[in-house]
Amino acid sequence: MEFTTIPHPAPLPSDTRTEALKNPGFGTLFSDHMVTVDYDEAKGGWHSATLGPRGPIALDPAAAVLHYAQEIFEGMKAYRQPDGGIALFRPDANARRFNASADRLAMPHVPEELFVEAIRQLLSVDGEWFPSVEGGSLYLRPFMIATEAFLGVRPAKQYKFIVIASPAGNYFKSGAPAVSLWVSDYTRAAPGGTGAAKCGGNYAASLVPTREAFERGHDQVLFLDAAEKKWIEELGGMNLFFVFDDGSVVTPPLTGTILPGITRDSLITLLREEGLTVREEPYSIDQWRADAESGKLLETMACGTAAVVTPVGKVTAEDYEFTIGSGGPGQITSKIREKLVSIQTGTVADTHGWVMRV
Ligand code: PLP
Ligand code: COI
Repeated sequence: MEFTTIPHPAPLPSDTRTEALKNPGFGTLFSDHMVTVDYDEAKGGWHSATLGPRGPIALDPAAAVLHYAQEIFEGMKAYRQPDGGIALFRPDANARRFNASADRLAMPHVPEELFVEAIRQLLSVDGEWFPSVEGGSLYLRPFMIATEAFLGVRPAKQYKFIVIASPAGNYFKSGAPAVSLWVSDYTRAAPGGTGAAKCGGNYAASLVPTREAFERGHDQVLFLDAAEKKWIEELGGMNLFFVFDDGSVVTPPLTGTILPGITRDSLITLLREEGLTVREEPYSIDQWRADAESGKLLETMACGTAAVVTPVGKVTAEDYEFTIGSGGPGQITSKIREKLVSIQTGTVADTHGWVMRV
């Protein structure tokens, strides 16, 4: 698809940008441009691909997204390479998950080539927006909203696909060596629901439990399964891995109620390459606590695009609390994080075909 380019009338002055890029934090700083592509069923699908200045978008107040939350998104990162080039990590996997989310939310697919080309277009003009902090990257947020003005409850016929970019440093403000979790009484997703889709509605439902976790001084909320409130599912924005003293690792299975993380999938491969046995099987909160207290469980790591690989140090529920290992980063967690980041940033060879130069 041809992209129309609209020049930016007043991009951020480079000295202001350089200053902002020294300490970007997460999710508050944005690059100069965005890509938008419109979809209209009556016009035969996707049209009007535009690369232009980032700014407000006009929406009819009756737009379906504003009423019935017909919205999906992706979270991915571009990494600066040692030779100065830019690479994406498994963008094809993000495109596939985006379309799986689209299926669940009754939205049209964005063809994989268009998804990746939109990102390529954005990076072609915003390549100066990489943070200068250690471990910094350019977080990319492709998303799709239902724009049709119609209040009946049925899938919309008009959509907008947008990509924005946000320079990102550490996801966790605390900068602590390991994060602490709050075990929520709320549940995130039920069987048959939208738990496996990356849709805004899932995150809206997680805001009260997340606020509860923050108010109690924790970094992330942990969700248990909706049916029995027994099985560990995932965090507000991350998947989990449990490392045992016999060299085995467990991660909750993809049964439709958790997000199929791309970091999760990559870690399964990398951990197996380290000689560890990885099992995708249910693990209960009671067993986790018992294994942590007996010393059978050595480490727990949380993983996701934004959080990368982060050790979990402490778990707190209404009536108990336990510490994982020494409460700080464990050996396997540190090693696997290093391995993943080295592949993403191009300091070790990518033998999996995961890195795409753009
Ligand atoms: N689980 C949830 C709820 C998330 O929001 C994320 C982040 O995207 C993940 C897991 C990890 O997914 P990924 O590794 O693809 O970023
Ligand atoms: C990500 O890791 O990309 C996420 O989407 C997690 C959170 C910022 C929603």
